[in-house]
Amino acid sequence: MIQSVRGTKDILPSEIHKWHRIEKIFKNISNLFGYRELRTPIFEKTEVFSRSIGETSDIVNKEMYTFLDKGGESITLRPEMTAALVRSVIQHQLIEQSSILRLWYFGPFFRYERPQKGRLRQFHQYGAECLGSPFPEADAEVIILADSILKSCGIEEYDLLLNTLGTNEARSKYRKALVEYFQIFKNELSDDSKFRLETNPLRILDSKDQNDLEIIKNAPDILNYLDTESLIHFEKVQDYLNSNNISYTISSQLVRGLDYYCHTVFEFRSKELGAQDSFGGGGRYDGLFEQLGGKKTPAVGFAMGVERLILILDNLNNQSADSCDYYIACSNPEFIKIGLEIQKKLISRNFSVRIDLLRRSLKAQLREANKYNAKFVIIIGEEEIKRQSFVLKDMQSGTQREISLNDVESLAI
Ligand code: HAM
Repeated sequence: MIQSVRGTKDILPSEIHKWHRIEKIFKNISNLFGYRELRTPIFEKTEVFSRSIGETSDIVNKEMYTFLDKGGESITLRPEMTAALVRSVIQHQLIEQSSILRLWYFGPFFRYERPQKGRLRQFHQYGAECLGSPFPEADAEVIILADSILKSCGIEEYDLLLNTLGTNEARSKYRKALVEYFQIFKNELSDDSKFRLETNPLRILDSKDQNDLEIIKNAPDILNYLDTESLIHFEKVQDYLNSNNISYTISSQLVRGLDYYCHTVFEFRSKELGAQDSFGGGGRYDGLFEQLGGKKTPAVGFAMGVERLILILDNLNNQSADSCDYYIACSNPEFIKIGLEIQKKLISRNFSVRIDLLRRSLKAQLREANKYNAKFVIIIGEEEIKRQSFVLKDMQSGTQREISLNDVESLAI
């Protein structure tokens, strides 16, 4: 038997309703906030990612699906969307001077990571990016959008970690201080951190190594290196979140694994997840447009891992099973013809309908109606058919009444 590739998953019919439900929420809430969808190809020229995410980041260094195509061009399956989206916006000149472009996306992404619960090699992200505003209100808007999505999905409790990396100047000063500090402990650091000390010292703060963590505890704090501009921006973001009742924890060691960030960075975490507790993250990336050959364009956004969202919802038991508005049960296979006609009329009015196709007993059909969480059951029985009618049972109240076949159009939910 040929199996699916390690780290990839089929989304089976028994779980697709979960995906449909949250995809609908992504679309609706994004629209309400004025974000429009952008779809880009699943692969890009490798430089789109290597020039943006950072040559020394784990993603570019170890995790990209990169190959030469038959024409000898280096191609990469997208590991994230922000860089691809910026490439597309520059290419199609989607943003004019002094205007705002609000975009969202949903789709598959690819990272060659060690698979485990919540960590896949093909996974899905929903994300939103606000392009054009250098102001903290844009940072706040994307976080408020993320919060609205989570609440609509039924996730009321989560941890939002917030930090700032400041302006480029502030970050440079901080980087210098970090290098000076970690040099003292160079011989005690893990091999990964030793390498990062040479290439990208901020990423040492991301280390999970127990020994590194002890050293990191006393490392210089970014918040002591911020200039006035960085401080004002960060305080204003907090002010907007406070007034919107969005709680957060400031985590001055949050640096995130991608190099394009400046100022605000944030991450969503949930206690419902195990080791992979981070289910979303984002931040400001004012330098990325220029890095990819575009005009200077301030921008901020985030992405959420959809498999991880679904794991949280499964743990919260918040996933309604495959459900329908009407279930049509026939006491005799002869009535299926009428049942199919009623089904067609109801579906043309956008109701979801199930009908038995196995000629099962009425009892078995009613059991199935329960399994589908049907709001109403239409029972086509011998007696009623003689009177050109059927029985309509309200499954919530348990009440039932007789309806004429001519009155199918009057049915509602
Ligand atoms: P990221 O933190 O690399 O950020 O990914 C965002 C989310 O994607 C993670 O929090 C996680 O839920 C999910 N994710 C990442 N890798 C995997 C995996 N191997 N398996 C399952 N889920 C995964 C970004 O990608 C940035 N582009 C976010 C952003 C948007 N920043 C600004 N705008």
